[in-house]
Amino acid sequence: MNSPIGVFDSGIGGLTVAHAIKSALPNETLIYFGDTAHLPYGDKSEAAVQAYSIKIADVLLNKGCKVIVIACNSASSAAYELLKEYTGKKAKVINVIDPMVKYLEEHYANKKVGLIGTKRTVTSNVYHKKVKQLRKNIELVSLATPLLVPMIEEGFFNNKISHEIIEKYLNNKLFDNISALVLGCTHYPLVNSQITKYFGGEVDILDSSEITTTYLKQYLIESGILNLEKTGEDRFIVSDYTESFEASTKIFFKEKVKLEKHLLWD
Ligand code: DGL
Repeated sequence: MNSPIGVFDSGIGGLTVAHAIKSALPNETLIYFGDTAHLPYGDKSEAAVQAYSIKIADVLLNKGCKVIVIACNSASSAAYELLKEYTGKKAKVINVIDPMVKYLEEHYANKKVGLIGTKRTVTSNVYHKKVKQLRKNIELVSLATPLLVPMIEEGFFNNKISHEIIEKYLNNKLFDNISALVLGCTHYPLVNSQITKYFGGEVDILDSSEITTTYLKQYLIESGILNLEKTGEDRFIVSDYTESFEASTKIFFKEKVKLEKHLLWD
């Protein structure tokens, strides 16, 4: 019950998920791992993302995490099945894709839904395969939007440049008549308001950080391992460290965090 929850991403994008968990489950202790040495995952091969994910799982398991949240769509699509097998009974593994697919099942039967994500996530076709299995007649259309992660990491959001890049991607026939757009990358909640504005409020913008947190909370309650009192301090670990990186974590986590460094390979 008192054990920490491990959360990881290629970098700081997963802090959007960590922040949602922190807000909904304030008694839980978080250990966040940002694999900044290997960022971005979205352009890497499936095998590379699997290797990084296993190494990170080792770090989180060694710290006694009861749950590992893969707060990254690219790693969720490449490494979830492998991590589940690897961790076995030592920890529950939760990804950001299954809670979203469940949400689509409950709310978007017989509708057209758009998805934007990294190249790794979109070319993996994981969302398509899982949505098809639902047999809910959901038409899913997806587009890789690889410029968004570097754009956001460089602090370009809520300005003219980010507006033009977002418009260039979304102004695509593919997205005609969609009811909802899945933000299939944990960096994208930072441009949620710009995307919402682009669609004039007529399309639901689905943010996996909130949806995954609801799923995690339900799991902790059902398994009787929800932490009832605050017992530990949160930790934020990265595989490569720069001061400017530490400064930008504030934008994602909404408060300043102190980063520790841990190499994945010596
Ligand atoms: N935040 C990661 C995701 O959800 C992507 C960032 C990256 O490409 O490393 O896919």
